[in-house]
Amino acid sequence: IGPDVIDIRKLYAQTGMFTYDPGFLSTASCQSAITYIDGDKGELLYRGYPIEQLATNCDFMETCHLLLYGELPDGKQKNDFTKLVTNHTMVNEQMQFFLRGFRRDAHPMAIMTGLVGALSAFYHDSTDINNPQHREIAAIRLIAKMPTLVAMAYKYTIGQPYMYPKNELSYAGNFLHMMFATPCEEYKVSPVLERALDRIFTLHADHEQNASTSTVRLCGSSGTNPFAAIAAGVACLWGPAHGGANEAALNMLGDIQKMGGVAKVGEFMEKVKDKNSGVKLMGFGHRVYKNYDPRAKLMQETCKEVLAELGLENDPLFKLAMALEKIALEDDYFVSRKLYPNVDFYSGIVQRAIGIPVPLFTAVFALARTVGWIAQLNEMIGDPEYKIGRPRQLFTGAVRRDVQPLDKR
Ligand code: ACO
Repeated sequence: IGPDVIDIRKLYAQTGMFTYDPGFLSTASCQSAITYIDGDKGELLYRGYPIEQLATNCDFMETCHLLLYGELPDGKQKNDFTKLVTNHTMVNEQMQFFLRGFRRDAHPMAIMTGLVGALSAFYHDSTDINNPQHREIAAIRLIAKMPTLVAMAYKYTIGQPYMYPKNELSYAGNFLHMMFATPCEEYKVSPVLERALDRIFTLHADHEQNASTSTVRLCGSSGTNPFAAIAAGVACLWGPAHGGANEAALNMLGDIQKMGGVAKVGEFMEKVKDKNSGVKLMGFGHRVYKNYDPRAKLMQETCKEVLAELGLENDPLFKLAMALEKIALEDDYFVSRKLYPNVDFYSGIVQRAIGIPVPLFTAVFALARTVGWIAQLNEMIGDPEYKIGRPRQLFTGAVRRDVQPLDKR
């Protein structure tokens, strides 16, 4: 804590005072050296490196190494790390039976919350969160197994056999294989789509103390099993105000398309601005960014590349998204509130073009964010001064009263 920042712990110890800050609008919940956001500039750094440079010059495995260990790997470290992750891509066969308990039409995030939580029942040599070796192997297992679990959840919902990982493929390539190959047919991984997916993973890898990361920290602060703490993060991410926004944004674009497409954009925007309508422009706005989310810019570029590769340059939903953005960036409602597209505004269009079904979008986000969750969890537990998270409250209920006998109530 710097000299110009009040140490609230000391203040509390000296005065018994505490702060009231619903939604943590201005309260830091921890110290962290992992991810830095300057919301006014629209800047995002992982361990000091700008997201634009990482997304352009590095792949997701390098980004994972950076987030977990603090430094980008050299060639040998990258190979060793990738091999280590690759060695853990399979999940215990028992997981298939666990999956069978779900309805086939269950939401993939409902399935993922269960599957990730269930991992805590399997790996007894990586469940002690206070043991650094356990934490490290849990991190590798989680990063390695998330693509397998997401693909299994998908295959289960469409009734197809699960595809085992192919370890000669890249992290993103392997995910595409497990998603789209069948025992009857190979899936030829397109380098452009593989690179786009890898970029989606990098852009979503961490984002400091967002709701799901804070959930993981709070959950892990009790010393719980690390897989259980990450399952809590998956559950939190599901909400439409957080990771669920990519699915919500694409559904919103689909609805406007059904209403009449670009011609109806103005009418839709009037609804968004009417506070009584309850309609929000999904994929817009952010608690920290009061400028363009740098990830949204990169995602828009990726979107153009992917659509060009697939010959879908005239994709109506992409056109709609661009039209909405153009109006919003010139409209006083959005300008005065500093509302810009966030990462979810374009990521859904890219995922859909790759062939990922809409209900799976947030699960793909969870897959990518897992490294951030576990890096933040390990940073917290590795700090000798960490304490169990235990927010205070301002009590607004009844003051003391006496229980009356049943016949007198
Ligand atoms: N559409 C219309 N109005 C909006 C939007 C939006 N998407 N976002 C914020 N506003 C308005 C609010 O109504 C509020 O207006 P007011 O001052 O007149 O009351 C003002 O802008 C400030 O918004 P808050 O809700 O106070 O901002 P907060 O920081 O609490 O919420 C959030 C941020 C949840 C992201 C919000 O902007 C939102 O709901 N966006 C849509 C969902 C979304 O895209 N979520 C993804 C976030 S990024 C991520 O998780 C990866």
